[in-house]
Formats: sequence, structure tokens, C-alpha cells
Amino acid sequence: MQSKIITLLTPYSKGNLDLKNHLVMAPMTRSRAVNNLPNDLMAEYYGQRTGAGLIITEGTAPSPDALGYARIPGIFSKPQIEGWKKTTAAVHKDGTKIFLQIMHTGRMGHFHNLPAGAMLVGASSIKATGQIQTDINGLQDFSTPKALTIKEVEAVVQGYVNAAKNAMATGFDGIELHGANGYLLEQFLNPNVNNRTDAYGGNIKNRTRLTLEVAEKTVTTIGNNKVGIRLSPFSKTGDLQPYDESEVHDTYAFLATELNKMKVAYIHIVLNPLIPQATIDAIRSNFDGTIIKAGGFTPETAEQALVNGSADLAAFGKAFLANPDFDKRIETGAALNPVDFKTLYATPDAIGYTDYPTLQK
Ligand SMILES: Cc1cc2nc3c(=O)[nH]c(=O)nc-3n(C[C@H](O)[C@H](O)[C@H](O)COP(=O)(O)O)c2cc1C
Repeated sequence: MQSKIITLLTPYSKGNLDLKNHLVMAPMTRSRAVNNLPNDLMAEYYGQRTGAGLIITEGTAPSPDALGYARIPGIFSKPQIEGWKKTTAAVHKDGTKIFLQIMHTGRMGHFHNLPAGAMLVGASSIKATGQIQTDINGLQDFSTPKALTIKEVEAVVQGYVNAAKNAMATGFDGIELHGANGYLLEQFLNPNVNNRTDAYGGNIKNRTRLTLEVAEKTVTTIGNNKVGIRLSPFSKTGDLQPYDESEVHDTYAFLATELNKMKVAYIHIVLNPLIPQATIDAIRSNFDGTIIKAGGFTPETAEQALVNGSADLAAFGKAFLANPDFDKRIETGAALNPVDFKTLYATPDAIGYTDYPTLQK
């Protein structure tokens, strides 16, 4: 049966973003990078999902301090750059673009997951509630982060710049700065976990300073059309507590205005039912570039968002994870494989990773 999904599967072009369709694979951590090295299995996984016009990789650490989770990849060493080359080649062979998501986990981590000599860091020394998987000792409480000094903040910014350069050397089409879901950049944005009294804490200008410095410096280094950013206004992910609604609104409206001045390629909004329409509208009206939305889409609701202009591109997480041929299933209206939640991150093998069946199998 032919489905009525048309726009999602037709080409998209804006600025320098030329995509074979409007379908984006959302960034998803899968914890297959043993020793934090991107490997052949990961290249196979991404290479299976080239029905997307744009793939955004799993969160990838710009520096050793950013490796808070077990088995997440990095982009700061030679072997990591070499390892990722297999993924970019596997994706490009089918005409799909691929952006590397750069994720500094900040306080969301455990010191057992960090390499020797690295420190768990945050905007302030405020520990996240909850537990995290470690390969050494199973589930552990999150570690208490060390508050970054100004000098260390400068090193963090430089880490993003180096990571952006490395991403270009690896063949990525661009980078996505992970400013969402409670990781380091959002830890600076949220006054409940940022109690700094220096230039990086306090008012909106100060709390957004790190995000905007990272954006500006990476744009200067690799080009505005190669830098996108993910934001999650009103999210509680990563043990972030809500703060004053108008303050949240103003924070994201300001970010959109400043990112617009830098002409970054896109803003990627993580949808959640708590975001007031006014905040989404403010981001949209303050920013002229591409808007990607993600979170809870079905092919039908994504098509609707594209047709009514509330999003330029639609990203899918779990549906892509479980359906390597997601585009074909959208095209034919075929049923989707369900997600196996047990195999998301627990082990580094192929089960629940590269063995989801296609329609042909
Ligand atoms: C297994 C898994 C890992 C994820 N890892 C990341 C990540 O590394 N970076 C990120 O920005 N979001 C991450 N997310 C969130 C997704 O990108 C997406 O926003 C979320 O799954 C909602 O979209 P969906 O309803 O289409 O699944 C992850 C989600 C899942 C299911």
C-alpha cells in the first residue's frame, strides 16, 4: 500500500545543506566503541541506515574529560580519527550526509568511565542524582564533578575546536554541538546546576557564554555551514530541574538570535510537551537557518510538520535504530520493527545493533 508521505522523502536544500530527503537519523549513543574507539561494527551500523538524507552520529567526546559514559567514542586521538573514517566512507557511498555530534558529558558521568588522568567536570560542583553504568563496577551513583576554573573552561572550548578540525579531517560533512539533554553546555545554561559567580554564571548572557563561544570558535575554524547545534528547552533530562519559565524562554530566544548572527547551519530542537509554543515560535522567528525537530514523530506527524512549515527537517531516533530500512518502510507503509530496549547500551556486540531485520531479510 502506498503511503501519503511525500515531503519527508523528497530532497531538501537550504544554504549548503543539500540532502537527498528530509529524513534525519537522530543522534543515539549506542556504547559499542570499546576503548572509546570507533570501529568496523559502528561503520556497518551507520552504513545500514543510509536511507536518511542526514545522519547525526551518537554523542562523541571532544576530550578525555568528556567520556563520562562507558564505551562512547571520542574524536581527539589519531586512532579515533582513523576509526571514524570507515563510518564516513560507509555513509557517503550512498549519498547520505553525516554530521558528528560533539558531546561533552560534563557532570553526567562516573570517574570509572574516564581514562587515567581525566577528571569529571561541571559548571559547578553539583552532583547529578541517579546512577550510571560502569564496566568496572556495574551501576554506580554519578560522581561529584569538579567545577571548571576559567582556565579549564578555555581548555574545554579549545577541545571543541580541535574536535571540529578532527571531524573535518575524518570526512564528516559537519558537526552538531550537543547543547541539549543535560550535558555540559546545558549544565552551564541551567541556573540550578550553574551557581558560578564569574563570567559564565548568573544572568542569561553569562550562562549562554560557553555555548556561544564554542559555536563561534567552531564556526570560525570550520565554517558556519558545517556547524549545527542541538537544544532542549524545558527538558528535565540529565537531572535538570525547571527554572523560571520566562527566563527559559528568554534564554533560548537569545541563543537563537546569537546563533543566527553566526549563521550556523541548523538548530535541532528536542521536542517535549513542556515547551510552550511561544518558545518554539521565538526560536523559529529569530533564526533564519534550518530547523530540525526530533522527539516522538511518526512518519505522519513528521510529514505534517514539514508541510505546515513548523520544521524544515524531521529527525527520528528509535524508529531508525530498529529499522535500518526506515525510508523503505515509510515509502511502502510497512510495519516497523519494535525497539529492543535491553540491547541499547548494555554490551558492545552486534546483537540489537546491526541485526535488526530489513523488509528483504
Ligand atoms: C538509545 C538512545 C540513545 C540516545 N543518545 C543520544 C545522544 O547521544 N545524543 C542526543 O542528542 N540524543 C540522544 N538520544 C535522544 C534521541 O536523539 C531522540 O531525541 C529521542 O530518541 C527522541 O526521538 P524518537 O522519539 O524519535 O526516538 C538518544 C536516544 C536513544 C533512544
